[in-house]
Amino acid sequence: MKERPLVPIQELNRQREYMRLVREMDVRPQKYHIVTLGCQMNERDSETIAGMLAEMGMESAPVREEADLVLYNTCCVRENAENRALGNVIWLKELKRDKPDMVICVGGCMTQEKGMAERMKQLYPFINVIFGTHNMHRFPEYLYRALREQHPVVEVLDTDGEIAEGLPEKRNRDFSAFVNIMYGCNNFCSYCIVPYVRGRERSREPQAVIDECLRLVDSGVQEIMLLGQNVNSYRGGGKEFAELLYRLDKLGVPRIRFMTSHPKDISDELIAAYGELSHLMPQLHLPVQAGSDEILARMNRRYTREHYLELVRRLRSVRPDIGLTSDIIVGFPGETLEQFEQTMSLVETVRFDAAYTFIFSPRAGTKAASMPDDTPYEEKSRRIQRLIDLQQRISLETLEAQVGRKETVLVESVSARDADSVGGKTPRGHMVNLPGGKELIGTFVNVEITSAGRNTLRGRKI
Ligand code: SAH
Ligand code: SF4
Ligand code: F3S
Repeated sequence: MKERPLVPIQELNRQREYMRLVREMDVRPQKYHIVTLGCQMNERDSETIAGMLAEMGMESAPVREEADLVLYNTCCVRENAENRALGNVIWLKELKRDKPDMVICVGGCMTQEKGMAERMKQLYPFINVIFGTHNMHRFPEYLYRALREQHPVVEVLDTDGEIAEGLPEKRNRDFSAFVNIMYGCNNFCSYCIVPYVRGRERSREPQAVIDECLRLVDSGVQEIMLLGQNVNSYRGGGKEFAELLYRLDKLGVPRIRFMTSHPKDISDELIAAYGELSHLMPQLHLPVQAGSDEILARMNRRYTREHYLELVRRLRSVRPDIGLTSDIIVGFPGETLEQFEQTMSLVETVRFDAAYTFIFSPRAGTKAASMPDDTPYEEKSRRIQRLIDLQQRISLETLEAQVGRKETVLVESVSARDADSVGGKTPRGHMVNLPGGKELIGTFVNVEITSAGRNTLRGRKI
């Protein structure tokens, strides 16, 4: 069981002192804007960074142009994520030409790539602060130094971070909250860069998680999403994660969800929890990645197609209405057409509610990046298109099967397309649009599903 030491309280106090020093500076940025790329881990980290910036006396600006501090929380899981971050930073160079006092900060997973921080410093000398995922809690100190000394501060640590409890936070939503239970990943799937940039697995103490959730429930949060790259190996795996869920189920938070689960580590206790816990929502994101055993082995996923299908059968036997979603990689090095067909047939068999599909993207330093890959990109594009078409048909059929059902929806937002409509999720995670205004946000509404679209349902209040 791996529990990492906490960042010492003295260090957190030092950072508090830096926040005060920045706040009291005569000349400092007044408005910040954070651009978050990547996954929910990064979204949660951005909430912490926003909390620190607020402590430093800054306000949030809705768009970059209105800010005098812009921070990029980057992702590098696929090449296009990285290109997006770099493209954005280059765009800021222009903005900085007009607004020379603009402060630019870059953090997140990309800065943790080998040699990346130094390269960024050389190529983009206009960036004021570059920091990594392991030393995010020291951002106030770096910002203070950059503002005071008027030259770039670059600090990225190779060693895994300790866990910092009790950092400031400014949460994006007040009815639904992300709660980290663990950081890092030990799995080294052969295509994946995350273990290199997020370090080894380390878990928060159960009591720290419970205390945070209790505070959230008291402040009116209706839904908690537990986060980890592989929540099933929380505190070393086994029953630990299910036990945490049993404890959280008693707190009274109406909805509990979590992500992400690795199929090799799903415990019997977790499957049982789906049959027993009333607040655990009938939804599970269970990335399968591929349908062929040879590809799964070369991906180092350590389960077989049959094991995955067996998990699906068992989950559905305890919770027949469970909605399953997945991640799938197409065009892994050496993937034959036949092996791809096995992914297609797995998708047909499981019938996911939704699947996020990606063309394999070689990441420097990972095993798969040096595997021979002779499938032309056009062929990979054809394959992914077939997969997308198949999944869209299944998603539509699944949504159509919901018509006529009565569901409880937790309203999340006003619809982008229609100001007299709001959108929210069913327990299973389907998005439902219904007539209503912003006063419904954060409340539960009983609806009858009246029709199905390609990705969403339509309902009416009952
Ligand atoms: N920890 C999570 C996923 C993190 S990354 C898990 O294990 O499921 C999110 C998804 O990005 C992965 O599930 C995978 O499908 C995809 N992905 C990761 N690395 C990739 C790469 N090099 N090329 C294409 N897709 C990748
Ligand atoms: Fe990457 Fe695999 Fe870890 Fe997920 S489990 S973060 S895909 S190495
Ligand atoms: Fe990207 Fe880092 Fe998440 S690489 S997917 S932001 S853990």
